[in-house]
Amino acid sequence: MVGPNIAVFASGTGSNFEVIAEADLDCRIALLVCDKPQAPVIQKAYKLGIETLVLDPKQFLTKAAYEEKILFELKERQVSWVFLAGYMRLIGGTLLHAYPKRIINIHPSLLPDFPGKDSIKQAFDKKVNTTGVTVHYVDQGMDTGPVIAQRSLEVNPDETLESLTIRIHEIEHALYPEVIRMLLEHEDRLEV
Ligand code: GAR
Repeated sequence: MVGPNIAVFASGTGSNFEVIAEADLDCRIALLVCDKPQAPVIQKAYKLGIETLVLDPKQFLTKAAYEEKILFELKERQVSWVFLAGYMRLIGGTLLHAYPKRIINIHPSLLPDFPGKDSIKQAFDKKVNTTGVTVHYVDQGMDTGPVIAQRSLEVNPDETLESLTIRIHEIEHALYPEVIRMLLEHEDRLEV
């Protein structure tokens, strides 16, 4: 059975995008949306044969106009879920209204700790003993929506920022496809 069409939004490297694309999920990535014309994720999508929409938000007069263009392209492709994978931009009312409880984000910390950018470094510099990964529903705030799943790790005494970054990404790459699978499986029972 072919499941729903989904879209992935990304701004950077695209390792989470790649993992979602290669995971055995009952869905199809109908579109990658990218706001950074030079982002490596674009090349990854090309190699995977996934259609890409690259838009520079600065080319639009308002955030609403930018999101209306994205929304049009999502509707054209009957996209029913949006998964953020390193999309470093707040989602506005246009998309949130169109996709209630259907825009999901992954974040490399145990939210509400260390929202925003450079979260792995923030946690490392703070010398926390435990950190991890959060998958959550997206709302208007920065990494603030209701949590769906979290997975933690203990920071080793000899941990470096590099080793911690690798370990966090390993967790992300396992957790995000699991959560996406769970959401798609229970789609018919979700309340909006
Ligand atoms: C990931 O660690 C993701 O959790 C983070 O950006 C990285 C993207 O890596 N997202 C955020 O910080 C959201 N606030 P990737 O491009 O290799 O998937």
